[in-house]
Amino acid sequence: MTTTVPSGPPPVDAVHDPHLSGLFEPVIDEIDAGDLEVIGELPPDMDGTYLRNGPNPRFTPLGSYVYPLEGDGMVHGLVVSEGRARYSNRFVHTPMLDAEIAAGRALWGGLMTGYTPGADEVGPSLAGLTKDLPDINVVRHGGKLLALAESNPPYALSPELATLGKETFGGSIPAGICAHPKVDPRTGEMIVFCYGLEPPYLTWSVLGPDGGTRRAPTAVPTVDEPVMIHDMAITARYVVLVLGPLYFDVAAVMRGGSLLSWRPDDGTRVALIPRDGGPVRWAHSDVFWTWHSANAYDVDESADGGVVLDYVQWSRPAGLSPRDTPLVGGIARAEIDPARGTITRRMLTEPQGMEFPRVDDRRLGRRHDVVALGAKTGRVDLTTGEFDAVLFLEPATGTAVTWEAGDLSVGEPCFVPKPGVDDSAQGWWVTFATDRTDRTSWFVVIPAADPGSGPVARVRMPARVPLGLHGAWLPTQE
Ligand SMILES: [Fe+2]
Repeated sequence: MTTTVPSGPPPVDAVHDPHLSGLFEPVIDEIDAGDLEVIGELPPDMDGTYLRNGPNPRFTPLGSYVYPLEGDGMVHGLVVSEGRARYSNRFVHTPMLDAEIAAGRALWGGLMTGYTPGADEVGPSLAGLTKDLPDINVVRHGGKLLALAESNPPYALSPELATLGKETFGGSIPAGICAHPKVDPRTGEMIVFCYGLEPPYLTWSVLGPDGGTRRAPTAVPTVDEPVMIHDMAITARYVVLVLGPLYFDVAAVMRGGSLLSWRPDDGTRVALIPRDGGPVRWAHSDVFWTWHSANAYDVDESADGGVVLDYVQWSRPAGLSPRDTPLVGGIARAEIDPARGTITRRMLTEPQGMEFPRVDDRRLGRRHDVVALGAKTGRVDLTTGEFDAVLFLEPATGTAVTWEAGDLSVGEPCFVPKPGVDDSAQGWWVTFATDRTDRTSWFVVIPAADPGSGPVARVRMPARVPLGLHGAWLPTQE
């Protein structure tokens, strides 16, 4: 009898990886459950589905695991209607994940290993391919539900969260899109960007409200090396891209070095890309880093008066840069003057390690009233990507209130409009939360009118929902 030694790097030590254990520990079961227990009362006019994606490796990763950049995607869906709730969750079934399920173990190496399985293990169609990772976000646009990867093609899902397949928009956007597209609530357009390791290194595209491609991938000029950008913003006039000096360095990998190179002396620049296709305007600043934008808007939509951008500012990208400067993060405001090419920045909050900023999506591209985001109260036992509070900031007044969630670790807040009411002070903020004491998970509903008071309703989830990344509220009537 012969035994086959599995090829590829050995599995990582999941038990001691903070993003593979504890509240991040992946779940395996795909379940459907109805009539969930509600503590408090779900708003009777709340009608729709909250979806949230996140890295959830089906098998113990091989060789390396870098949260939040990799892991199989799992979409969790919570349907609310007539005061009741039901839940479903599904993996995003890429061909790579299905090959691993068939094998009963991980076949692809972690991102830092560069290992891909051969044809003897996964057949000629998957051999040599890197793993698709549609595990970051989920959006609905043009009648399609999309699980989003980082500058790769998304995967389309059915309303029941079954995986339909890779989405290239009729072949018009083959290289993929970013994980944080922005839908303009006024035009219905979805605007995306995509970075790549080969020229053109950075492109942007526009999908019409019907999902058809309105602008094919268009190069952003004078970006002459591969740069990592995670999020974007829009205004009525511009697409806003913040280019921190985090570059892909393929040659360094060949020498055994890091794929990503942080070059703080280069500073940070912002591209204001006219949505009408005009010449790109650039503005420059001392170095800063951002993963996530909250929103941007034109100072004056009828004139070139500049752009205001609210975002979470870091001194450097954690884990992807040398630890030579203290890591601080908080909400900042940048005033970008395209005529002068300048960026004026100031903090709107104390830096507390916040992340996942959201606004009422109906305000994307114009002045917003409130930014909500995950925050920390100062506990020392929370890991990266874990929050025990939600902070609500009114940038115009500087007023901030915090819901301290106690034993709950909370995720990205998502705004649910009150049907028929165009007011960000009405409606609700929702998210998943998990109790650190017993690992029960909850869907929490926080009233926008008084968010500091905490949830008016909690839905007990039938299984733990691991801490994850980004989500969306899909109104039933849309
Ligand atoms: Fe993100």
